[in-house]
Amino acid sequence: MNFEDYWDCIDDKFDELLKEGYVKFPSIANLDLSQIDKRISSQVSNKTYTELGVEHKKFIDQLLLDQYLVPKLLNFAKKEFGYKGLISNQYHIARSALPGDQKYRAHFDSHMFTLVIPISIPQVQEKGGTIGELVFFPNTRGFPKNPFFDFIGKLWFKQYSSKSGMERLSKKRNMIINSFNDYEPLLFLGNTVFHSNQPVSSNVNSHRLTLLAHYFDPFPKYGIGSLLRKIRFR
Ligand SMILES: [Fe+2]
Repeated sequence: MNFEDYWDCIDDKFDELLKEGYVKFPSIANLDLSQIDKRISSQVSNKTYTELGVEHKKFIDQLLLDQYLVPKLLNFAKKEFGYKGLISNQYHIARSALPGDQKYRAHFDSHMFTLVIPISIPQVQEKGGTIGELVFFPNTRGFPKNPFFDFIGKLWFKQYSSKSGMERLSKKRNMIINSFNDYEPLLFLGNTVFHSNQPVSSNVNSHRLTLLAHYFDPFPKYGIGSLLRKIRFR
């Protein structure tokens, strides 16, 4: 695949990103994902989240994110949200979920953009089973204008972070479930779109591996983001 042109389609999608809170990119299913999965998975920890490893870095370098996608995101962030930080304000993690993974905690990210790159997506074996789908609520809140509003918004929505809480929220807000079985990367506004993952049923055929690229924390010094990230790593 030629990633020099791949990210171009975002040029026509910024309106959609702003309005809907998310956009999808063309499928990467024709890459040798099982090989990439093997390499990256050999370096993930036994925890759900692993910070950027060598193989993970190699793969995202191959995607030419920093050359093509991220400069566009930076311009957009400056223009739409008054972002004043650096292009290097990024946070990359691999999310690895095994069959039987039951974590279910919805949140806002501290960073403005979250790119989800699917590497290995299991198949459901039985009716009613789940495969760690991304569940999200487009434009749950407005863009936080300062760290205080950011904090208050996160605090307010905490009541919806559990499974039952998300069910309650889904009665008031549009809820989208994205399985990634089309292997289409998805970009969303991580700090305004409340999101979580479904459990991975214990009888699915494989683990689930996605790469999460977070771009631009508008309040890096003051935010509770870095603290929350530490807590999530425990
Ligand atoms: Fe997140």
